[in-house]
Amino acid sequence: MPGRFARGPGGVGRRRGDPVARPMEWDFGALGLPGRYKLLVALVTPRPIAFVSTRGRDGVDNAAPFSFFNVLADDPPIVIVSIERRSDGRSKDSGRNILETGEFVVNMVDEDLLERMHLCSVEFPSEVSEFAQAGLTAAPARQVAAPLIAEAPVSMECRLHTRVPFEKRDLVIGGIVWLHVRDGIVDPQTLRVTADYAPVGRLYANLYTRTRDRVALDQNAYVEAMRRLGRV
Ligand SMILES: Cc1cc2nc3c(=O)[nH]c(=O)nc-3n(C[C@H](O)[C@H](O)[C@H](O)COP(=O)(O)O)c2cc1C
Repeated sequence: MPGRFARGPGGVGRRRGDPVARPMEWDFGALGLPGRYKLLVALVTPRPIAFVSTRGRDGVDNAAPFSFFNVLADDPPIVIVSIERRSDGRSKDSGRNILETGEFVVNMVDEDLLERMHLCSVEFPSEVSEFAQAGLTAAPARQVAAPLIAEAPVSMECRLHTRVPFEKRDLVIGGIVWLHVRDGIVDPQTLRVTADYAPVGRLYANLYTRTRDRVALDQNAYVEAMRRLGRV
């Protein structure tokens, strides 16, 4: 693997007694692209998946997953999706549609939708709709022309706020303008999300993780620490 790295105690670049040094470390600028990708996607996990639906200017409905994605703020309510360009420099269909129409929908993926989402990562030709290929149902959105994926538990209608172009990819910053949630997921009185909502996360390659195995922390430890600080 290209790049400088240290392996094992006393390895290259490791200074004895350096409190920051780890058994393996990389100069990230010097690490080649395949290694960088491999390490980042497998170490920074699980990542949420944006199953992005768009409508092209030609009227073709497109759907594709993106896990270089997150919701970055609630005020303003924004999402960021990182869309790489293809090896010939052309935009992926999702990126082209978002930049041309200024609209997209981020659908969340649960276990029922997992296989269909994965199928939609195939590079189907632009004129072929993933909705038909994967057996997805397009439902009308409220504020944007792009369709919702009816099978998704959660869909967020978004308008393009800013495109941040890089050499090989576009970061698409979108503002959320409308939220749809399947019945039974949110308590309408408290707005609490129930444990019935179990989106999947991406690990790497064709590996995903479920989110049903949850850990509840003891609130008392937090309150106790705040008390020691005199904050409560
Ligand atoms: C779970 C998953 C996550 C993905 N994340 C990204 C991503 O963050 N950025 C990206 O450019 N491609 C990502 N891809 C690949 C795209 O989904 C793939 O290139 C797809 O063909 C794009 O479709 P489109 O041309 O219809 O937009 C991902 C694929 C999978 C299966």
